[in-house]
Amino acid sequence: MARSAIINVMVQAAMKAGRSLSRDFGEVQNLQVSLKGPGDYVSQADRRAEDIVFTELAKARPGYAFLMEERGVVDGDDDQHRWIVDPLDGTTNFLHGIPVFSISIALERQGQLVAGVVYNPIMDELYTAERGGGAFMNDRRLRVAARTKLSDAVIGCGIPHLGRGHHGNFLIELRNVMGEVAGVRRMGSAALDLAYVAAGRIDGYWETGLSAWDVAAGLLLVREAGGFASEPGGGQDMLESGDVVAGNEVIHRALVKTLSKPVASR
Ligand code: IPD
Ligand code: CA
Ligand code: CA
Ligand code: CA
Repeated sequence: MARSAIINVMVQAAMKAGRSLSRDFGEVQNLQVSLKGPGDYVSQADRRAEDIVFTELAKARPGYAFLMEERGVVDGDDDQHRWIVDPLDGTTNFLHGIPVFSISIALERQGQLVAGVVYNPIMDELYTAERGGGAFMNDRRLRVAARTKLSDAVIGCGIPHLGRGHHGNFLIELRNVMGEVAGVRRMGSAALDLAYVAAGRIDGYWETGLSAWDVAAGLLLVREAGGFASEPGGGQDMLESGDVVAGNEVIHRALVKTLSKPVASR
């Protein structure tokens, strides 16, 4: 599979940051860790990976703007392009020695997602998508799962951490979903959750209260793998709201319906 120049730039940045994360993962007990808020950790590993992605992308495409989790907004001279980057998605897993985390890089052109890369350096799984060009894991073309019954479906979710809010809503949503599906999973990296939907490993996923950098690349992966994504109410402002439901067309519709039920009966 021949990759485009822009995907190559993103892959190179993600893999270089991945090598840094893999090294730091091996010495996780020696890393400096600080709290950004209750339950919300950041470490030297996040910052080192972000520095690498920032340097690589800025060198390859000078002037593009950035939105990055740790640096925030970096303005550019080019008002057409913006990188949206999470240098370590799954910090809590990482700091606990759980090898489920990723680097997420997306590119917007004129406000539209045009390229996305999600990389799990421990599994060496590289997910790429370009608008109109399909989604891939390493060199394999991806397609969302074909299951259409919720009762056969395994659904991913995110559980709001301490300080996040949304706890009450989440419990209502979980109870509704649990009552209808074959299984529920909590992976701990939103970017990988969406990549797993694209790969057909999970049939659907929902989470609320995320940020643009958690979901930008993954949303493109889902769409390019033939899937559907929206806010729980059906809107398309997922980058602003951080609220996401995804799956194939049928599971997506069914999940939206299930999530909006008031409270399931026992
Ligand atoms: C977190 C992960 C996690 C999700 C959290 C996010 P971080 O990102 O994506 O799966 O449930 O809400 O904040 O902080 O590890 O980059
Ligand atoms: Ca974080
Ligand atoms: Ca994240
Ligand atoms: Ca992060």
